[in-house]
Amino acid sequence: MHLRVDHVSKSFGHGRQAQLVLDDISFEIKGGDFLALVGSSGSGKSTVMRLIAGLERPTAGSIRLDGQPVRGPGSDRGMVFQKYSLYPWMTAAGNVAFGMELQGLSRSEIRERTAYFLDVVGLADAARCLPRELSGGMQQRIAIARALAAQPKVLLLDEPFGALDLQIRESMQEFLHRLWRQTGLTALLITHDLEEALLLAQTVHIMAPRPGRIVRSVSVALERSTLAQLRVSPDFLALREDLATCLRSLDGALL
Ligand SMILES: Nc1ncnc2c1ncn2[C@@H]1O[C@H](COP(=O)(O)OP(=O)(O)O)[C@@H](O)[C@H]1O
Ligand SMILES: [Mg+2]
Repeated sequence: MHLRVDHVSKSFGHGRQAQLVLDDISFEIKGGDFLALVGSSGSGKSTVMRLIAGLERPTAGSIRLDGQPVRGPGSDRGMVFQKYSLYPWMTAAGNVAFGMELQGLSRSEIRERTAYFLDVVGLADAARCLPRELSGGMQQRIAIARALAAQPKVLLLDEPFGALDLQIRESMQEFLHRLWRQTGLTALLITHDLEEALLLAQTVHIMAPRPGRIVRSVSVALERSTLAQLRVSPDFLALREDLATCLRSLDGALL
């Protein structure tokens, strides 16, 4: 798996009204990587994700997945958004099965994979529940199970825990970290939460707004036995403080 975002720029509007939203973005993700894009609101993070998802086309530059230019949406890229995007009238199992039904898998395979991925996210017991019967954190785990069930090459997560309370957010971060370690999935996490990015990703790109661009890239080579330990480790705190200063200076430059 190799996703390559190469000198991508994106403008919305035409002529004098044209607004440059992304300016010359380049990065790559290889199989098993966990990469995060961090930046304040309006720095173009969601636009990067929509371009990779094939929901928008770059104005300049290219996006290639395993050498093939991205031309539109496809099941090789799984997506999870901040807003619970589950179908409210379908059970948890129905939601997980939905994408596979679209892919035309056999009934027995759908049944087997649905059970497997509900189990992966720890919600086998919730198979018959409707989304409204589940907590926000559980709904996001179902959304992740649904995305994984289609066996994408890369999982795209846009502020997936942004709507959750702090405590639930922390347990979801632990959950996603374990999932990554256990399944070897490849993930692109988009977040405005610096701590979240540093806890989960091996590589973090910091974005600045107007126009959206990558201003700093760091590899996070920290020992992650548990995220709770990592959160309070001196190396982690020093790196977080350094990057927080960088983010504050970017915001300050805008005032
Ligand atoms: N379809 C669109 N048309 C015009 N402007 C857009 C569109 N989508 C995003 N933008 C603008 O691009 C900028 C970046 O937006 P976005 O990618 O959502 O940032 P982020 O996710 O980092 O908050 C914002 O100024 C936003 O108004
Ligand atoms: Mg966004």
